[in-house]
Amino acid sequence: MRVALVGSGIAGLSHALDIVTSPELEFTAVCSRTRSRAAELAGRFGVPRVFRSVTELLDAECCDAVVVAVPPAATLPIVLACRERSLRIMAEKPVARSASELPLVEEVSRGVLAPFNRRYLAHVREAVEAVHGGAIGAIRQVDARWVGPYLERYAPGAPTYRARAGRRQGLLVDTGSHVLDALSWVMGPVRPLPGCRMEFNARGAEVGFDLLMRNGDGATASVRAEGKGGEERWEIRVTGDRGQATLGPDTAEVRAGTRRTRLAARPVRRPVDDLLIGWRGEQVWGPSPAELVRLSETLVGVYDLVDADARTRWLRPRFKPWGRLNGSC
Ligand SMILES: NC(=O)c1ccc[n+]([C@@H]2O[C@H](COP(=O)([O-])OP(=O)(O)OC[C@H]3O[C@@H](n4cnc5c(N)ncnc54)[C@H](OP(=O)(O)O)[C@@H]3O)[C@@H](O)[C@H]2O)c1
Repeated sequence: MRVALVGSGIAGLSHALDIVTSPELEFTAVCSRTRSRAAELAGRFGVPRVFRSVTELLDAECCDAVVVAVPPAATLPIVLACRERSLRIMAEKPVARSASELPLVEEVSRGVLAPFNRRYLAHVREAVEAVHGGAIGAIRQVDARWVGPYLERYAPGAPTYRARAGRRQGLLVDTGSHVLDALSWVMGPVRPLPGCRMEFNARGAEVGFDLLMRNGDGATASVRAEGKGGEERWEIRVTGDRGQATLGPDTAEVRAGTRRTRLAARPVRRPVDDLLIGWRGEQVWGPSPAELVRLSETLVGVYDLVDADARTRWLRPRFKPWGRLNGSC
Protein backbone atom coordinates (compact mmCIF):
# COMPACT_ATOMS: atom_id res chain seq x y z
CA MET A 1 0.00 0.00 0.00
CA ARG A 2 1.43 3.42 -1.01
CA VAL A 3 1.21 5.89 1.89
CA ALA A 4 1.63 9.69 1.96
CA LEU A 5 2.13 11.72 5.12
CA VAL A 6 0.60 15.16 5.68
CA GLY A 7 2.39 17.11 8.43
CA SER A 8 6.05 16.96 9.35
CA GLY A 9 6.02 17.76 13.07
CA ILE A 10 6.27 15.53 16.15
CA ALA A 11 3.37 13.25 15.23
CA GLY A 12 4.44 13.23 11.56
CA LEU A 13 7.91 11.99 12.50
CA SER A 14 6.46 9.24 14.68
CA HIS A 15 4.18 8.01 11.88
CA ALA A 16 7.05 8.31 9.37
CA LEU A 17 9.11 5.89 11.48
CA ASP A 18 6.15 3.49 11.61
CA ILE A 19 5.56 3.69 7.85
CA VAL A 20 9.20 3.00 6.91
CA THR A 21 9.45 0.08 9.30
CA SER A 22 6.23 -1.57 8.11
CA PRO A 23 7.10 -4.24 5.51
CA GLU A 24 3.82 -3.83 3.63
CA LEU A 25 3.75 -0.02 3.36
CA GLU A 26 5.55 2.05 0.73
CA PHE A 27 6.28 5.65 1.84
CA THR A 28 5.67 7.66 -1.34
CA ALA A 29 5.19 11.33 -0.37
CA VAL A 30 5.41 13.96 2.35
CA CYS A 31 3.22 17.06 2.33
CA SER A 32 3.67 19.96 4.74
CA ARG A 33 2.81 23.64 4.68
CA THR A 34 6.49 24.58 4.70
CA ARG A 35 8.16 22.88 1.76
CA SER A 36 11.61 22.82 3.37
CA ARG A 37 10.25 20.91 6.37
CA ALA A 38 8.52 18.40 4.10
CA ALA A 39 11.74 18.03 2.06
CA GLU A 40 13.83 17.55 5.22
CA LEU A 41 11.61 14.74 6.49
CA ALA A 42 11.32 13.14 3.05
CA GLY A 43 15.11 13.29 2.63
CA ARG A 44 15.67 11.60 5.95
CA PHE A 45 13.55 8.58 4.97
CA GLY A 46 14.29 8.49 1.23
CA VAL A 47 10.73 9.47 0.25
CA PRO A 48 10.59 10.39 -3.45
CA ARG A 49 7.92 13.12 -3.56
CA VAL A 50 7.36 16.34 -1.64
CA PHE A 51 4.32 18.65 -1.72
CA ARG A 52 3.35 21.82 0.07
CA SER A 53 -0.40 21.62 -0.54
CA VAL A 54 -2.82 18.76 -0.01
CA THR A 55 -4.51 19.50 -3.36
CA GLU A 56 -1.17 19.06 -5.18
CA LEU A 57 -0.58 15.81 -3.29
CA LEU A 58 -4.01 14.43 -4.16
CA ASP A 59 -3.76 15.52 -7.82
CA ALA A 60 -0.46 13.62 -8.14
CA GLU A 61 -2.28 10.30 -7.40
CA CYS A 62 0.84 8.88 -5.77
CA CYS A 63 -0.80 7.22 -2.76
CA ASP A 64 -3.51 4.76 -1.74
CA ALA A 65 -3.58 5.95 1.84
CA VAL A 66 -2.84 9.17 3.72
CA VAL A 67 -1.70 9.73 7.30
CA VAL A 68 -2.76 13.19 8.48
CA ALA A 69 -0.77 14.68 11.37
CA VAL A 70 -1.57 18.40 11.47
CA PRO A 71 -3.00 20.72 14.17
CA PRO A 72 -6.61 20.10 15.23
CA ALA A 73 -7.93 23.20 13.46
CA ALA A 74 -6.56 21.96 10.08
CA THR A 75 -7.48 18.27 10.34
CA LEU A 76 -11.13 17.92 9.28
CA PRO A 77 -10.93 19.78 5.91
CA ILE A 78 -7.86 17.69 4.94
CA VAL A 79 -9.60 14.45 5.94
CA LEU A 80 -12.64 15.46 3.89
CA ALA A 81 -10.50 16.23 0.80
CA CYS A 82 -8.76 12.82 1.09
CA ARG A 83 -12.09 11.07 1.51
CA GLU A 84 -13.42 12.66 -1.66
CA ARG A 85 -10.57 10.87 -3.50
CA SER A 86 -11.60 7.56 -1.84
CA LEU A 87 -8.25 7.20 -0.07
CA ARG A 88 -7.70 5.22 3.13
CA ILE A 89 -7.11 7.71 5.91
CA MET A 90 -5.51 7.68 9.31
CA ALA A 91 -5.81 11.07 11.01
CA GLU A 92 -4.49 12.51 14.22
CA LYS A 93 -7.79 13.20 15.76
CA PRO A 94 -10.64 13.62 13.35
CA VAL A 95 -12.70 15.11 16.18
CA ALA A 96 -15.08 18.04 16.60
CA ARG A 97 -14.39 20.91 18.96
CA SER A 98 -17.72 22.69 18.48
CA ALA A 99 -21.26 21.64 17.60
CA SER A 100 -20.85 23.06 14.09
CA GLU A 101 -18.12 20.47 13.35
CA LEU A 102 -20.16 17.47 14.52
CA PRO A 103 -21.92 16.82 11.16
CA LEU A 104 -18.52 16.76 9.45
CA VAL A 105 -17.19 14.19 11.92
CA GLU A 106 -20.31 12.08 11.39
CA GLU A 107 -19.75 12.28 7.63
CA VAL A 108 -16.07 11.29 7.68
CA SER A 109 -16.09 8.87 10.64
CA ARG A 110 -16.82 5.78 8.54
CA GLY A 111 -13.79 6.38 6.34
CA VAL A 112 -11.13 7.38 8.82
CA LEU A 113 -8.92 5.60 11.36
CA ALA A 114 -7.80 7.43 14.49
CA PRO A 115 -4.57 6.36 16.24
CA PHE A 116 -5.52 6.87 19.89
CA ASN A 117 -2.37 5.29 21.10
CA ARG A 118 -3.36 3.78 24.48
CA ARG A 119 -5.34 1.26 22.42
CA TYR A 120 -2.09 0.14 20.72
CA LEU A 121 -0.33 -0.76 23.99
CA ALA A 122 -0.68 -4.55 24.15
CA HIS A 123 -0.49 -4.76 27.97
CA VAL A 124 -3.19 -2.10 28.34
CA ARG A 125 -5.37 -3.86 25.76
CA GLU A 126 -5.02 -7.16 27.61
CA ALA A 127 -6.02 -5.54 30.91
CA VAL A 128 -9.02 -3.77 29.32
CA GLU A 129 -10.13 -7.07 27.79
CA ALA A 130 -9.92 -8.67 31.25
CA VAL A 131 -12.09 -5.86 32.66
CA HIS A 132 -14.59 -6.29 29.82
CA GLY A 133 -14.55 -10.03 30.53
CA GLY A 134 -15.75 -9.36 34.09
CA ALA A 135 -12.42 -9.79 35.97
CA ILE A 136 -13.20 -6.96 38.42
CA GLY A 137 -17.00 -7.19 38.28
CA ALA A 138 -19.18 -4.23 37.31
CA ILE A 139 -17.28 -0.96 36.89
CA ARG A 140 -18.18 1.59 39.58
CA GLN A 141 -15.54 4.31 39.26
CA VAL A 142 -12.66 5.26 36.97
CA ASP A 143 -9.93 7.72 37.94
CA ALA A 144 -7.58 8.98 35.24
CA ARG A 145 -4.56 11.16 36.05
CA TRP A 146 -2.27 12.80 33.51
CA VAL A 147 0.69 14.94 34.58
CA GLY A 148 3.07 16.56 32.13
CA PRO A 149 4.87 19.73 30.98
CA TYR A 150 1.65 21.26 29.70
CA LEU A 151 2.32 24.92 30.55
CA GLU A 152 5.61 24.88 28.61
CA ARG A 153 4.04 22.88 25.78
CA TYR A 154 1.58 25.72 25.04
CA ALA A 155 3.86 28.63 25.95
CA PRO A 156 4.91 31.27 23.39
CA GLY A 157 8.07 30.04 21.68
CA ALA A 158 7.21 26.35 22.08
CA PRO A 159 8.47 24.45 19.00
CA THR A 160 5.08 23.24 17.69
CA TYR A 161 1.73 24.70 16.63
CA ARG A 162 0.87 24.73 20.37
CA ALA A 163 2.81 28.02 20.74
CA ARG A 164 -0.03 29.71 18.82
CA ALA A 165 -2.95 27.51 19.89
CA GLY A 166 -5.97 29.39 21.22
CA ARG A 167 -9.49 28.60 22.35
CA ARG A 168 -10.49 24.95 21.93
CA GLN A 169 -7.04 24.13 20.52
CA GLY A 170 -5.30 23.19 23.74
CA LEU A 171 -4.80 20.23 26.03
CA LEU A 172 -8.39 18.93 25.93
CA VAL A 173 -8.44 18.21 22.21
CA ASP A 174 -4.76 17.23 22.12
CA THR A 175 -4.04 14.98 25.13
CA GLY A 176 -7.60 15.03 26.48
CA SER A 177 -9.04 13.30 23.42
CA HIS A 178 -6.68 10.36 24.16
CA VAL A 179 -7.84 10.33 27.78
CA LEU A 180 -11.53 10.47 26.89
CA ASP A 181 -11.06 7.81 24.20
CA ALA A 182 -9.38 5.52 26.76
CA LEU A 183 -12.20 6.20 29.21
CA SER A 184 -14.99 5.36 26.77
CA TRP A 185 -13.03 2.32 25.56
CA VAL A 186 -12.96 1.06 29.17
CA MET A 187 -16.43 2.07 30.40
CA GLY A 188 -18.51 2.78 27.29
CA PRO A 189 -19.92 6.16 26.22
CA VAL A 190 -19.49 8.86 28.86
CA ARG A 191 -21.16 12.21 29.37
CA PRO A 192 -19.69 15.22 31.18
CA LEU A 193 -21.28 16.23 34.47
CA PRO A 194 -21.51 19.72 35.97
CA GLY A 195 -18.35 20.61 37.86
CA CYS A 196 -15.90 20.17 34.96
CA ARG A 197 -13.12 22.77 35.11
CA MET A 198 -10.32 23.88 32.83
CA GLU A 199 -7.27 26.08 33.24
CA PHE A 200 -6.42 28.35 30.32
CA ASN A 201 -3.30 30.22 29.28
CA ALA A 202 -3.31 33.85 28.13
CA ARG A 203 -4.38 32.88 24.59
CA GLY A 204 -7.32 30.86 25.91
CA ALA A 205 -5.78 27.42 25.19
CA GLU A 206 -6.50 24.80 27.82
CA VAL A 207 -3.41 23.81 29.82
CA GLY A 208 -5.09 21.70 32.47
CA PHE A 209 -8.48 20.20 33.29
CA ASP A 210 -10.57 18.42 35.89
CA LEU A 211 -13.50 16.49 34.46
CA LEU A 212 -16.36 14.51 35.94
CA MET A 213 -18.10 11.99 33.71
CA ARG A 214 -20.76 9.29 33.94
CA ASN A 215 -21.58 6.33 31.70
CA GLY A 216 -24.99 4.82 30.92
CA ASP A 217 -24.75 2.34 33.82
CA GLY A 218 -24.22 5.10 36.38
CA ALA A 219 -20.47 4.47 36.82
CA THR A 220 -18.58 7.73 37.32
CA ALA A 221 -15.16 8.93 36.28
CA SER A 222 -12.83 11.68 37.38
CA VAL A 223 -10.17 12.88 34.98
CA ARG A 224 -7.37 15.23 35.91
CA ALA A 225 -4.65 16.61 33.67
CA GLU A 226 -2.19 18.84 35.42
CA GLY A 227 0.69 20.91 34.08
CA LYS A 228 3.87 20.01 35.97
CA GLY A 229 7.38 19.88 34.59
CA GLY A 230 9.14 16.69 33.57
CA GLU A 231 8.09 13.74 31.48
CA GLU A 232 4.43 13.00 30.93
CA ARG A 233 3.05 10.37 33.32
CA TRP A 234 -0.41 8.83 33.34
CA GLU A 235 -2.48 6.25 35.14
CA ILE A 236 -6.04 4.98 34.81
CA ARG A 237 -7.52 3.18 37.84
CA VAL A 238 -10.70 1.21 37.25
CA THR A 239 -12.61 0.17 40.35
CA GLY A 240 -15.19 -2.57 40.02
CA ASP A 241 -17.44 -4.20 42.62
CA ARG A 242 -15.08 -7.20 42.79
CA GLY A 243 -11.61 -5.73 42.18
CA GLN A 244 -9.47 -3.08 40.58
CA ALA A 245 -7.42 -2.64 37.40
CA THR A 246 -4.58 -0.14 37.07
CA LEU A 247 -3.35 0.85 33.61
CA GLY A 248 -0.12 2.72 32.93
CA PRO A 249 2.53 3.16 30.23
CA ASP A 250 4.91 0.51 31.62
CA THR A 251 2.64 -1.94 33.35
CA ALA A 252 -0.97 -2.90 33.99
CA GLU A 253 -2.39 -4.82 36.90
CA VAL A 254 -5.71 -6.56 37.44
CA ARG A 255 -6.62 -7.49 41.04
CA ALA A 256 -9.67 -9.36 42.29
CA GLY A 257 -9.66 -10.90 45.77
CA THR A 258 -6.30 -12.62 46.24
CA ARG A 259 -5.75 -12.96 42.51
CA ARG A 260 -3.32 -10.42 41.03
CA THR A 261 -2.20 -10.35 37.37
CA ARG A 262 0.66 -8.07 36.36
CA LEU A 263 1.15 -7.32 32.67
CA ALA A 264 4.42 -5.79 31.52
CA ALA A 265 4.68 -3.45 28.52
CA ARG A 266 5.48 -5.07 25.19
CA PRO A 267 6.52 -3.39 21.92
CA VAL A 268 3.85 -0.89 20.82
CA ARG A 269 1.90 -1.94 17.79
CA ARG A 270 2.23 0.47 14.84
CA PRO A 271 -1.04 2.43 14.45
CA VAL A 272 -0.44 2.71 10.67
CA ASP A 273 -0.79 -1.07 10.42
CA ASP A 274 -4.53 -0.48 10.93
CA LEU A 275 -4.53 0.90 7.37
CA LEU A 276 -3.67 -2.61 6.11
CA ILE A 277 -5.80 -4.45 8.67
CA GLY A 278 -8.87 -2.34 7.91
CA TRP A 279 -8.28 -2.76 4.18
CA ARG A 280 -8.37 -6.56 4.64
CA GLY A 281 -11.67 -6.16 6.48
CA GLU A 282 -10.22 -7.31 9.82
CA GLN A 283 -10.80 -5.71 13.21
CA VAL A 284 -8.66 -2.58 13.69
CA TRP A 285 -7.33 -1.59 17.13
CA GLY A 286 -8.46 2.04 16.88
CA PRO A 287 -11.96 3.24 17.74
CA SER A 288 -15.00 2.40 15.62
CA PRO A 289 -16.82 5.13 13.62
CA ALA A 290 -19.56 5.23 16.27
CA GLU A 291 -16.96 5.62 19.04
CA LEU A 292 -15.33 8.48 17.12
CA VAL A 293 -18.63 10.33 16.82
CA ARG A 294 -19.39 9.80 20.52
CA LEU A 295 -15.91 11.03 21.46
CA SER A 296 -16.57 14.24 19.52
CA GLU A 297 -19.91 14.67 21.27
CA THR A 298 -18.16 14.28 24.62
CA LEU A 299 -15.41 16.77 23.74
CA VAL A 300 -17.92 19.35 22.51
CA GLY A 301 -20.05 18.67 25.60
CA VAL A 302 -17.10 19.42 27.91
CA TYR A 303 -16.09 22.60 26.05
CA ASP A 304 -19.70 23.87 26.02
CA LEU A 305 -20.28 22.99 29.67
CA VAL A 306 -17.15 24.82 30.82
CA ASP A 307 -17.98 27.86 28.64
CA ALA A 308 -21.55 27.99 29.96
CA ASP A 309 -20.28 27.69 33.52
CA ALA A 310 -17.83 30.56 32.98
CA ARG A 311 -20.69 32.72 31.65
CA THR A 312 -22.93 32.02 34.62
CA ARG A 313 -20.12 32.67 37.09
CA TRP A 314 -19.52 36.17 35.64
CA LEU A 315 -23.00 37.63 35.99
CA ARG A 316 -23.09 41.41 35.76
CA PRO A 317 -24.16 43.02 39.06
CA ARG A 318 -27.74 44.30 38.89
CA PHE A 319 -27.74 46.95 41.64
CA LYS A 320 -25.16 49.23 43.28
CA PRO A 321 -22.01 47.60 42.14
CA TRP A 322 -18.45 47.82 43.31
CA GLY A 323 -15.95 48.89 40.72
CA ARG A 324 -18.60 49.89 38.20
CA LEU A 325 -18.56 53.20 36.34
CA ASN A 326 -21.13 55.54 37.89
CA GLY A 327 -20.65 58.67 35.76
CA SER A 328 -18.98 60.71 38.52
CA CYS A 329 -15.56 60.82 36.87
N1 LIG B 1 -0.95 10.28 18.89
C1 LIG B 1 -0.03 10.96 19.56
O1 LIG B 1 0.58 10.46 20.49
C2 LIG B 1 0.28 12.36 19.16
C3 LIG B 1 1.48 12.94 19.55
C4 LIG B 1 1.75 14.24 19.15
C5 LIG B 1 0.82 14.91 18.41
N2 LIG B 1 -0.36 14.32 18.07
C6 LIG B 1 -1.35 15.05 17.23
O2 LIG B 1 -0.77 15.28 15.96
C7 LIG B 1 -1.20 16.53 15.45
C8 LIG B 1 0.02 17.36 15.12
O3 LIG B 1 0.76 17.59 16.32
P1 LIG B 1 2.33 17.80 16.29
O4 LIG B 1 2.79 17.68 17.68
O5 LIG B 1 2.94 16.93 15.27
O6 LIG B 1 2.41 19.32 15.82
P2 LIG B 1 3.60 20.08 15.08
O7 LIG B 1 4.91 19.50 15.53
O8 LIG B 1 3.37 21.53 15.25
O9 LIG B 1 3.42 19.69 13.55
C9 LIG B 1 2.27 20.08 12.82
C10 LIG B 1 2.58 19.89 11.36
O10 LIG B 1 1.39 20.16 10.61
C11 LIG B 1 1.78 20.97 9.49
N3 LIG B 1 0.61 21.72 9.07
C12 LIG B 1 -0.08 22.65 9.76
N4 LIG B 1 -1.14 23.07 9.05
C13 LIG B 1 -1.09 22.39 7.88
C14 LIG B 1 -1.91 22.39 6.72
N5 LIG B 1 -2.99 23.17 6.65
N6 LIG B 1 -1.57 21.55 5.71
C15 LIG B 1 -0.50 20.74 5.79
N7 LIG B 1 0.32 20.72 6.86
C16 LIG B 1 0.02 21.53 7.89
C17 LIG B 1 2.89 21.83 9.98
O11 LIG B 1 3.53 22.25 8.82
P3 LIG B 1 4.89 23.08 8.67
O12 LIG B 1 5.76 22.70 9.81
O13 LIG B 1 5.40 22.58 7.38
O14 LIG B 1 4.52 24.51 8.68
C18 LIG B 1 3.66 20.84 10.85
O15 LIG B 1 4.56 20.08 10.10
C19 LIG B 1 -2.10 17.15 16.51
O16 LIG B 1 -3.44 16.85 16.18
C20 LIG B 1 -1.70 16.42 17.76
O17 LIG B 1 -2.77 16.35 18.68
C21 LIG B 1 -0.63 13.07 18.41
